[in-house]
Amino acid sequence: MQRKNLIAGLAVLAVMLAACQTAAEPAAGEVEVFSWWTGGGEAAGLDAMLAVFTTEYPDVVFTNSAVAGGAGTNARAVLASRLQAGDPPDSWQAHAGQEIIGTYVAAGQIESLNSLFEDEGWIAVMPDTLIPLISKDGEIYSVPVNIHRANVMWTNPTLLSDLGVTVPTTWDAFFAACETIEAAGKICLSMGEQWTAMHLMEVVLLGALGPDAYSALWSGTGDWGSPEVTAALESYSQVLQHVNSDASGLTWQDASQLVANGDAAFNIMGDWADGYFSGTTAGGNLGLVPGEGYGWAPPPGTDGTFQFLSDSFTLAKNAPDPEGAMDWLRVAGSKAGQEAFNPVKGSICARTDCDTSLFNAYLQTAMADWSTDTVVGSLTHGVTANDTWKNEINTALGLFLTNSDVAAFQAALVTAAGTYGN
Ligand code: GAL
Repeated sequence: MQRKNLIAGLAVLAVMLAACQTAAEPAAGEVEVFSWWTGGGEAAGLDAMLAVFTTEYPDVVFTNSAVAGGAGTNARAVLASRLQAGDPPDSWQAHAGQEIIGTYVAAGQIESLNSLFEDEGWIAVMPDTLIPLISKDGEIYSVPVNIHRANVMWTNPTLLSDLGVTVPTTWDAFFAACETIEAAGKICLSMGEQWTAMHLMEVVLLGALGPDAYSALWSGTGDWGSPEVTAALESYSQVLQHVNSDASGLTWQDASQLVANGDAAFNIMGDWADGYFSGTTAGGNLGLVPGEGYGWAPPPGTDGTFQFLSDSFTLAKNAPDPEGAMDWLRVAGSKAGQEAFNPVKGSICARTDCDTSLFNAYLQTAMADWSTDTVVGSLTHGVTANDTWKNEINTALGLFLTNSDVAAFQAALVTAAGTYGN
């Protein structure tokens, strides 16, 4: 009897042990990734990267916490309050440059990734221009997934040829083209909500000042109060007279679509628009053939200059799932991840070893220009100014868009640089 009890007791113990073992098995893992890639041209890119992630880490549960809104205007506000509440996503989208160094690193919100770069051999395959923009005091803080170009003027080739308009290479030629285009009842330059006005402003500044003087404004050696900046802002003011009147209510995709539909001749936007123009309609894009359904050219005065930005992903300090985050980052920096993501996103790889044949006709030109042009950074997309400075510029811009007062705008830009410059 006693022996029977002993055996029964042992059996119960064995079952309990087995149960304990199951419970103690390492969890398959999870990761929460935060971005603003929800819309046309953007969600499809994220999905393509995610497909690689799911293949490589089938057991890691991926939570996509993307918040809608171009350039991260909404997402970054949500992120800021989560960070303030001590509730960070494991990994979030961040632009190389001052957005990372002057904002997240300055606030101690992200981890160094040097060992990941060493383990994966990434230093050898990431461009030299990029590493300093994601580093501080020898520590590397994010994994770049792409290079986007900000200074692109998208065109409707059919509309231009119907009207006998050639693509302008100077602002004066642009204003002359606008006369013809507007006389035909069309919009000369389509634009959207305020961040797209800032995007247009940085491109006009670059075209008017040239790459050296433009970059000097951000490094602190240039003079925001100079007559050259006054002239550039006057050109900007004049360009704004040729945009659609409903701009403030439109997304960047809406503005791109005006060109695609032939309602507008031109749009100045980063090359995520290429992903939107050429991506499949099943993926929420326009399904156009590059060079036929849409064209591209450097905006006036910017030929030979590549105004760039780079999306990258971070590892949060106190990330709830650091292992899952590292898995995500490993894919984000990998050749397979970047080759899947970039041709769909409308960007070129941050890595230097991607298969160039995977990219469409527009992206072929971007790859060539990236390797030969003078490279400068984008304000709107985080490269040149820390967040506080950029917010001041944005506030001044908001006023300018309603009152068109160049002198007051320039004075506000001078003060913003003096007070908040990097
Ligand atoms: C940029 C971002 C791009 C694209 C764009 C429009 O800031 O770097 O990847 O998403 O905004 O939303």
